Amino acid sequence: MIFSDELTSWYHKNKRSLPWRDTTDAYVIWLSEIILQQTRVEQGLPYFNRFLERYPDVRAFAAASEDEILKLWQGLGYYSRGRNMLKTARQVVSEYNGVFPVRYEQLIKLKGIGEYTAAAISSFSSNEARAVVDGNVYRVMARYFGIEEPINSTPGKKIFQELADEVLDSENAGLHNQALMEFGAMLCQPKNPDCGICPLRLSCMAYQNDKVTSLPVKLRKIRIKERYFNYFLISDGNTILMNKRGDNDIWANMYDLPLLETPGPVPAVSLISRQEVKELFGDTIVLIRAETARKHVLTHQHIYAQFIMISLPADLQHPEKFIRVELHDLDKIAMPKIIYTFLNKFINT
Ligand code: ADE
Repeated sequence: MIFSDELTSWYHKNKRSLPWRDTTDAYVIWLSEIILQQTRVEQGLPYFNRFLERYPDVRAFAAASEDEILKLWQGLGYYSRGRNMLKTARQVVSEYNGVFPVRYEQLIKLKGIGEYTAAAISSFSSNEARAVVDGNVYRVMARYFGIEEPINSTPGKKIFQELADEVLDSENAGLHNQALMEFGAMLCQPKNPDCGICPLRLSCMAYQNDKVTSLPVKLRKIRIKERYFNYFLISDGNTILMNKRGDNDIWANMYDLPLLETPGPVPAVSLISRQEVKELFGDTIVLIRAETARKHVLTHQHIYAQFIMISLPADLQHPEKFIRVELHDLDKIAMPKIIYTFLNKFINT
């Protein structure tokens, strides 16, 4: 049997039942695909259900505010996805009269939709013959065809895309793509793939040549940046000072606490006598206590956050740039997970 037939036959017997697979509605497929970028199905599924319930169609989505989207997105990470989705939804309403496009060439022009997502939406919604290439597809093809070219090199990307186009079953593109991705997610996994039960193993180059663990090849090229965030917790027991983040950094437009970033770790006692801190809060700050740094791992950055509880004189005179939030309203605003976890603990202790 040829590659595609083997895969689809395996898929019919083994696929998970997932809500976005029972539809050709491009809006619903788009929602699932953006949520599932860099996110496991088990983690993304409850978010998908909540979003679809709250915004059953693209017009409802486009009518939401950015704060609402970010709030519903909270905990999923890579928040630019949520913000881009709002722009896309509004673009679909204004340019396509609220009818979500299904053709690759239209989709690729929308905000936040790249080659993978355009191929996924067009093939799943209208069976357009476009091959998807995501992490699962790279892995399955690298192993099955024994390709040693790094998957994140420029020639590697070209080779994999061309091969994916070549092996695509163009009459059944949607099914073929789903089957290939599901096979990568369920059987041909990164670690300990279940080769013993794999129906493709007799023609799998990696299996035949004992290269399953060494394929796919990936170049390590990202440098991790270490950042030190000193957060100030200023509360009178009922309210807390918070900061709305700008849109040029991580956690864009979300809410965190008043922050001083330093190039390295600085103990709280020396921090509060620094000029920048005095400029923010005045001269007579009292340090109540500090929590040692917690590490928060992002793809390209490691954030070390320490939380410093201080009190200000003349009860909470505060600079204009911060906003005062009632503690019982904290669940209404979107904040990074590290802040949310810390505040929850603070409130409950
Ligand atoms: N990951 C990305 N897209 C997916 C899909 N359509 N089904 C399952 N997992 C996925």
